[in-house]
Amino acid sequence: MPFCIGQLELCSHLFLSPLAGYTNLPFRLIIREIGGAGLCTTDLVNARSLLEKNRKALKLIESSPEDRPLAVQLFGSVPEEMRDAALFLESQGVVAVDINMGCPVRKVCKIGGGSSMMLEHEKATRLIEILVCAIKIPVTCKMRLGWDEKNITAPDLAQRLEGVGVACITVHGRTREQGFSGKVNLTGIRSVVQAVRHIPVVGNGDITTPQAAKRMFDETGCAAIGIGRGAFYNPWIFQHTLHYLTTNELLPEPTFEERLGIMSKHLNRMIEVFGEETGCRMFRKVATWYSKRFGPAAEFNRRIVLLHSRKEFDEIVENYTIWRQQILEKRPQFYSSDPSLLQDRNSKSREPPVATRETIPIPPGPNELW
Ligand SMILES: Cc1cc2nc3c(=O)[nH]c(=O)nc-3n(C[C@H](O)[C@H](O)[C@H](O)COP(=O)(O)O)c2cc1C
Repeated sequence: MPFCIGQLELCSHLFLSPLAGYTNLPFRLIIREIGGAGLCTTDLVNARSLLEKNRKALKLIESSPEDRPLAVQLFGSVPEEMRDAALFLESQGVVAVDINMGCPVRKVCKIGGGSSMMLEHEKATRLIEILVCAIKIPVTCKMRLGWDEKNITAPDLAQRLEGVGVACITVHGRTREQGFSGKVNLTGIRSVVQAVRHIPVVGNGDITTPQAAKRMFDETGCAAIGIGRGAFYNPWIFQHTLHYLTTNELLPEPTFEERLGIMSKHLNRMIEVFGEETGCRMFRKVATWYSKRFGPAAEFNRRIVLLHSRKEFDEIVENYTIWRQQILEKRPQFYSSDPSLLQDRNSKSREPPVATRETIPIPPGPNELW
């Protein structure tokens, strides 16, 4: 299903949403290898830090020829800095610059960026106008529905931004005040779709299954969807959703072996990009997302959170595979073709089996407020 943002042609209308601390180059490469995603966006990057060539900021935009098409998300509020950072990104081969207007984190709002822009329409519109005039690639925006229930400002802001040339708008269907509580408000997203004339609106929030993706399209009329946590929870979601939308058929869940294979590749990519020590340390929190779909996983989680090296990873997987097989054999009454439907009886967690969950936990880290 080809899809366009301005002049930019994409192979699908399913996008990877930015997840600070998670949507780094290794993860994007894994998503692309599995397939189905039309566009991936980096974690949000501070425009000023980018201009100062800050090492961490440059690492956030690190990319490779297979990591295409790539959008970079910027935050900041000084128009000249945002413009110069966007010009720099354009020169680096980025296909779109996304402006963050949804981040609720205090550090970002304090400097007039993120969701604070949803209260200052004049300023936000002026900023987008400057960017649109400065670069040739599309300028896009990502926002929430508004600051709080009394200030649902997204429809009005979207209309204004379209007036100054924004190419696409992503809406996470919650307010800043809501954080991640409650369910995503599809009617709210629909009101943004209805407020704009021509530009595509990307519906975002709580998409964890192909069926939820279809509901987002059907109930909001959005042109594309953004998937964040759902992609971490299940990197196959883009491929499976694309298949479901075109055939109305659900593909079978990946097998345990397929999940292990992709997880192992993910670790390889982490090591290539961050080095063995840092890559393994960062991978500790990544691996426990994969294991949510392994069925009984206590033995794996216990060891992987201390991971130090690639060699150790192979050993953990080998031992765990034997342990898991024994558990499955001991409890044939719980066995199903999809072991992720199994409750991990060794786990202290009271969570329901993951494959039947409708909500996704918020990944731990410095971004819990997102
Ligand atoms: C850990 C975490 C980090 C996030 N980082 C960003 C970010 O850098 N930029 C952004 O626009 N949104 C960010 N978000 C919001 C997501 O892109 C998305 O809008 C939100 O999670 C709802 O979509 P989902 O239910 O598919 O995850 C983040 C969310 C989480 C949980």
